[in-house]
Amino acid sequence: MQIIFYHPTSDTQQWIDGLRRRLPQAQIREWVPGDKAPVDYALVWHPPYEMLADRQTLKGIFVLGAGVDAILNQERQHLGLLPAGVPLVRLEDSGMAKQMQDYVLAYVLRYFRRMDEYQLYQRQKQWKPLTPFALGDFMIGILGAGVLGKSVAESLVAWGFNVRCWSRSAKNIAQVESFHGEEQLPDFLHGTRVLINLLPNTPHTAGIITLSLMRQLEKNAYLINIARGAHLNEADLLVALEEGTVAAAALDVFAEEPLTDMHPFWSHPRISMTPHIAAVTLPEEAMDQIAANIRAIESDRQPAGWVDRQRGY
Ligand code: NAP
Ligand code: GLV
Repeated sequence: MQIIFYHPTSDTQQWIDGLRRRLPQAQIREWVPGDKAPVDYALVWHPPYEMLADRQTLKGIFVLGAGVDAILNQERQHLGLLPAGVPLVRLEDSGMAKQMQDYVLAYVLRYFRRMDEYQLYQRQKQWKPLTPFALGDFMIGILGAGVLGKSVAESLVAWGFNVRCWSRSAKNIAQVESFHGEEQLPDFLHGTRVLINLLPNTPHTAGIITLSLMRQLEKNAYLINIARGAHLNEADLLVALEEGTVAAAALDVFAEEPLTDMHPFWSHPRISMTPHIAAVTLPEEAMDQIAANIRAIESDRQPAGWVDRQRGY
């Protein structure tokens, strides 16, 4: 079994050693430009076009993250890049759900306990107790109720928050109100105070967070975008902050990463940024899942995390 690996920023040797331990029968190598020798499996993150082009012998392509938008966008530009019928497989959770829970809870508590305001008062040497927010006025709405959205919803419910979610199909998550489809989006937004984005980036969801969407939230809403920068109209967010539609935003993902030096988000007093680390790929957990999935494909079983290319996630 031949496997090629490409990740532009990860420790390639750690992956190759770990995969060799899990799949002793496999020949595993780092893919380098010019390597066109036939392979069975490709493990990729943001691969160059040439890595996957014309690979008719592939039995599976494993994306080393949860989102497959980069590879499907490339496929849209180079039709036929991904050989038809070859499973495209993403990571499902593999340690990311817990990271997302922590990330979201950190910001939700910071906003709910009005920590940003107190920090400002501290700088102004003001001793000024504020009226606490009531849980009933702090509805949390999650766009996307898949592996990560559901897990975040459950952790917020366990913390005592009121939570609702919006997805393509209806969900049955304990104590979480489910909205689905475009026609229910306005009802989902109405009354939502904290909007958390955990949608995949597809042609249907790109650009979904606009000024008009944010204006349907409760006034002085909070936005936590941890899915993709492509979901958010960044200029619209600046207007929403200016007019008081949005009180503050926590952003982990951006239209262009890293942001240019001139980007207004760097210095905006009500935007908190992190460099796309809300949930990182944990190599050991990821390799366990990928090795199990390779064994599944070798035994004619469907791998976990199989991507529906038509649907885009
Ligand atoms: P997932 O399991 O595929 O869940 C996607 C959810 O979005 C599903 O509930 C799906 O609805 C819903 N959805 C998709 N298209 C929709 C549409 N047009 N309208 C309404 N709902 C729609 O994905 P996941 O594993 O939770 O990951 C979500 C995203 O998080 C990834 O795609 C990635 O972009 C992002 N992510 C970011 C980081 C980071 O560090 N910032 C890390 C990991 C992942 P159905 O359930 O009805 O199909
Ligand atoms: C990270 O953004 C991922 O999709 O895993």
